[in-house]
Amino acid sequence: MPDILSRRALLATLAAVATALPGQDGKQLFQSFCGACHLPDRVHVGPSAIEIAGLYRGKRAEFLAWCKAPSPKRKGVIQMPPMGYLGDAKLTAIHRHILASTVGQKEVVVKNADRFRASPSMRRRPLVMRIFMPDAGPAAIAVAVNDDYHYCFDAGACRLRYVWQGDFIDGWPVWRANGNALAKIVGDIVLREPRSPLPVQQSDKRKFLGYRLRAGLPTFRYRLGEVRVEERITPLPGGRGLARRFRLEGAPRDWRLRLTAPVGMTWRSGDGEFDGLEFTPAVSKRAEFTLTLEQK
Ligand code: HEC
Repeated sequence: MPDILSRRALLATLAAVATALPGQDGKQLFQSFCGACHLPDRVHVGPSAIEIAGLYRGKRAEFLAWCKAPSPKRKGVIQMPPMGYLGDAKLTAIHRHILASTVGQKEVVVKNADRFRASPSMRRRPLVMRIFMPDAGPAAIAVAVNDDYHYCFDAGACRLRYVWQGDFIDGWPVWRANGNALAKIVGDIVLREPRSPLPVQQSDKRKFLGYRLRAGLPTFRYRLGEVRVEERITPLPGGRGLARRFRLEGAPRDWRLRLTAPVGMTWRSGDGEFDGLEFTPAVSKRAEFTLTLEQK
């Protein structure tokens, strides 16, 4: 059952994605779901967290009501998309974070007239967003690694889906449709993996165990059958490409990876041998090895 999940498994996976968010206190939720338009201390596409805190301190119910059904209020701004699909618990955590993080903070005055852009900039790098993505299951996670490279990891299927170069994503279709549409990729796909490169059997159970953020980038943890996997994707210096590190626990000795050919790029590794697109880690590197996806 590689990519088809039962409803129960899907809900469990979505919950794992949500609970994997560090702190659980709403900070990460705020960054992932609101941060494209709301900044902590200054106006952006929408008002700052400081301004929101001023409006909604002690008004959780009103805050939830606004998030579920925002109405046009300010002049010259886009209408905020409804965020009700997040549910009360997450919105409450975000509310708590907004109030707690803004105590004693002062609004930074922004003069730039075009700060209200119709398309959210989402310029922060790295940036991790839980959003509905094309060609991925509903538990997709979009990651902007740096200004050059971005990827989509599918927490349901426990695998990388694709890597692209360009301007990250346009999330507006999702927000406008309150979660009933897919984000658009802005850029060119350089790698599309039709399956996990790890030798996972059809019968192997897959379980997503969450992710941890280090330097703003996630390390995904999941189980494929008996094997525990950690996968982390980081940028190579100078925009040359990406490094993809695997850590395995409980893998059999003869594990080989079957990679997919990228477009305009190539796989390299000092940790093993390639036979075409088949990679065998060196004996001493079986439990932890890095592959790089580099420009040709
Ligand atoms: C695509 C951009 C966008 C996203 C994403 C977004 N907002 Fe907004 N938000 C806006 C805009 C624009 C306004 C100002 C709307 C207006 O005044 O008409 C706004 C206003 C608000 C306000 C002020 C309401 C008021 O009474 O003035 C709150 C509260 C708010 N947003 C919360 C959130 C939360 C929480 C999230 C994430 C769960 C979120 N927003 C995600 C664009 C966005």
